[in-house]
Amino acid sequence: MTPTVDAQRLQRELDTLASFSEQPAPAVTRVVFGEMDLRARAYLKTLFAEASLDVHEDPVGNTFARWTGANPSLPRVATGSHCDAIPNAGRFDGTVGVLGGLEAIRALQRAGFIPQRSIELVLFTSEEPTRFGIGCLGSRLLASALDPSVGDTLMSGGQSLNQIRASAGFSGPLADVALRDDAYSAFVELHIEQGPTLDRDRIDIGIVTAIAAPASFRIFVEGEGGHAGAVLMPDRRDAFLAAAEIALAIERIARSSGSIDTVATTGVCELFPGAINSVPSRTRLDVDVRDIDHGRRDAVLRDIDRACETIAAGRRVTVRIEPINADPPAHCAPVIVDAIERACDIRGLQHRRMISRAYHDSLFMSRVAPTGMIFIPCRDGISHRPEEYASPDAISHGAEVLADTLAVLAG
Ligand code: GLV
Ligand code: MN
Ligand code: MN
Repeated sequence: MTPTVDAQRLQRELDTLASFSEQPAPAVTRVVFGEMDLRARAYLKTLFAEASLDVHEDPVGNTFARWTGANPSLPRVATGSHCDAIPNAGRFDGTVGVLGGLEAIRALQRAGFIPQRSIELVLFTSEEPTRFGIGCLGSRLLASALDPSVGDTLMSGGQSLNQIRASAGFSGPLADVALRDDAYSAFVELHIEQGPTLDRDRIDIGIVTAIAAPASFRIFVEGEGGHAGAVLMPDRRDAFLAAAEIALAIERIARSSGSIDTVATTGVCELFPGAINSVPSRTRLDVDVRDIDHGRRDAVLRDIDRACETIAAGRRVTVRIEPINADPPAHCAPVIVDAIERACDIRGLQHRRMISRAYHDSLFMSRVAPTGMIFIPCRDGISHRPEEYASPDAISHGAEVLADTLAVLAG
């Protein structure tokens, strides 16, 4: 059996999904539980139903589309990804794993394959941290890696996650999101690489062996505000300038970790009161630090703590660090890595084992099931930008390798 994807249909569906965006094309912005996210979900659910999949949603909006196998009592095989998109993003991050996963299932159906295990496509809620500050919200809850009390504590625009999900139509206790231990026998995610190596080296498929350890935190700096004309320079306790020094220290610490694999980004800076003629009294920085080496990542976090103390003393401000997450890296299951590799060999596709520097829902699914990831090239490695591009051929190769892998895993 050689399942074949319908590349044109898949492209049309990716185009339609990209049209649900808060920004004009080519940019895509789709914030979780916003109007565009809900319209994208409705569109996807229609496609899932058209493929005769049984669809259900959990209290946080994770959506499951099941192709029931000949032996439905066996743990299921799952695939999937996310459809939320950060501000000013592209159209392929996450969506290739959702629509490519759907097309892989349809290709297996067309090929007459009868799975022993049920195959389930999962649309994860809020892989991106845009709205609630924490990435992989849905998969963290599925893997019991986040306390359900976050329903009341995660806030967006003055409303709690519980209030926002209820307005979006998702109710029930968040504690019910956690998966049973025996829910899945395997999870495989198809995704664009989001880095340059496959494209540069003309490799068709990246086979992920591990996912880098991500951490993020907020830094609150408090100084003293005042009139921009009247407060003399020696008297100032400018919260923004202290934050600026902290951001530069974070860059220096990441660059001097001894490894090119350490990366740190200060991606958000909010000033209060945010007026041209007022000395900033408060500043908030949101910082993301990652490394493939867990110990080195944590050493960087400790160095950042120390730098904050020194800068706070030097500038006579207070600095408070509020951790958001500090996750260990994930390792992919050798049995899935091997299955993906065999599928590439049979199809004559060039492949390479590699680390994922971006995080994915697979980071958390690996806690509940043996997990693997299939990467496809994206042009120049560009991602999280409107220029993000993966060719139709690359997407088809990925979906076909996914179909072959699901067939092996579902038996
Ligand atoms: C996922 O979007 C990430 O930031 O790695
Ligand atoms: Mn992303
Ligand atoms: Mn993604």
